[in-house]
Amino acid sequence: MTPKEHTSQTLTDTVNWHLAARVEDFPENGGACVYVEGKQIAVFNFSARNEWYACQNMCPHKQQMILSRGMIGSQAEEPKVACPFHKKTFSLSTGKSLNGDTCDIDTYPIRVEEGVVYIGLS
Ligand code: FES
Repeated sequence: MTPKEHTSQTLTDTVNWHLAARVEDFPENGGACVYVEGKQIAVFNFSARNEWYACQNMCPHKQQMILSRGMIGSQAEEPKVACPFHKKTFSLSTGKSLNGDTCDIDTYPIRVEEGVVYIGLS
């Protein structure tokens, strides 16, 4: 099934799936930026955890479009990204600022099917 315009079951949880790129377009244990529906979205292939994440590309600290170039890792069980500029860190699962001194970031649902990565936008 190719869920390009998949819509979920409930009205309050409507997600439209947008093609981002192919799996091989993203480095293992790293990220890349995609442009979907007018938004820069950072997509991370966290292959060490066999997981994928998507969040806004803009770091809220100094409004830099850079998070896709950040280093990913884990804090306890929490997957996180560290901005390459000033090392502010954010949860990739919830978007919460892990430093507590910057705004949280938006995260997006992500799915991989038949070698293609899709981002869910409301
Ligand atoms: S711009 Fe990202 S931590 Fe400062």
